[in-house]
Amino acid sequence: MDTKARQLLDKLNTEHSLQTEEYQYLLDHRNQELMDLAAEYARKYQNQHYGNKVFIRGLVEFTNFCRNNCLYCGIRRDNHNCERYRLSADTIVECANEGYALGFRTIVLQGGEDFSYSDEDICDIIRRIKASHEDMVVTLSIGERSKKSYQKYYEAGARRYLLRHETANPELYAKLHPAELSWDNRMECLKNLNEIGYQVGAGFMVESPGQTTYDLAMDLKFVEEFKPDMCGIGPFISHKETPFANSPSGTLETTLFCLSLLRMIYPQVLLPATTALGTIHPKGREMGIKAGANVVMPNLSPTGVRKKYALYDNKICTGEEAAECLGCLGQRMESIGYKIVTDPGNRAGL
Ligand code: 5AD
Ligand code: FES
Repeated sequence: MDTKARQLLDKLNTEHSLQTEEYQYLLDHRNQELMDLAAEYARKYQNQHYGNKVFIRGLVEFTNFCRNNCLYCGIRRDNHNCERYRLSADTIVECANEGYALGFRTIVLQGGEDFSYSDEDICDIIRRIKASHEDMVVTLSIGERSKKSYQKYYEAGARRYLLRHETANPELYAKLHPAELSWDNRMECLKNLNEIGYQVGAGFMVESPGQTTYDLAMDLKFVEEFKPDMCGIGPFISHKETPFANSPSGTLETTLFCLSLLRMIYPQVLLPATTALGTIHPKGREMGIKAGANVVMPNLSPTGVRKKYALYDNKICTGEEAAECLGCLGQRMESIGYKIVTDPGNRAGL
């Protein structure tokens, strides 16, 4: 093994911090041996804070209308071959009820940036879910909105918010997004969510088009400094109806290595083994857990709409019922010595 890489990994293991250049050195010298050692260190922290428990979050993809035009995303505004749908408040609440019955204590309401749902609509949905299930944690993932709106959702009962930063490098951010979206505004939103008191999930795509290992190192440094409660990462996967249709997808190896490094950087962080990871490899999510992840997010959306929420090509779990996905994941986790738990799944230390 490269001696310097080994030394850096040991330093990270004791200090939970490296310089951006040092993270880059690790990424540039990744090989199986280094990955195995990082995963071993990562599992030590995973075991210390979460044992062999894997948290579940039920994901309801309630609208694929989006006012944005992110270059990588399959539901971007300019994709006219995307069949659009919106779920009614009643349907969303039914998904939450079904999730609750299946044992989910966290529900994630995710959608494109669809302003046909007013703040009142969103608050109403949150209040209805909380009224039926006091112990269900409502998580939102609906993009950039004003601080005032975020405040209203919090008052209605939402307690977590997922908003990936996508990349910590403003220049790369500008290449992945249209001009009307800015990195500064994304950061402002994350800051606002934090200030209001949400548990915040940030995150980034691994090996998105044009991303260098220095950019990725910046993402690791960002997580080290910002300390989001959750960090969702997955490989970039091309979607045929986007400008990045021909860009190569991110790799399993880099994603797994990043997961292990993130666990070492912030031992308590909530780290999902994402659907994108499960899409690039049939055992991707299991491998993600073994690399240090501790959360899976099965889909609770009605099967009729699942294929339409295609952020990238070949997304898995678009045909299965919620209960099937849950059963499947339960078995997958058991096969590697972990178990799914019915628990709101707070970050350790909260
Ligand atoms: N490949 C991988 N991840 C993607 N996302 C959007 N499009 C893609 C893609 N083509 C991720 C983004 C977004 C999250 C909901 O899905 O990081 O924040
Ligand atoms: Fe919807 Fe990017 S295309 S958030």
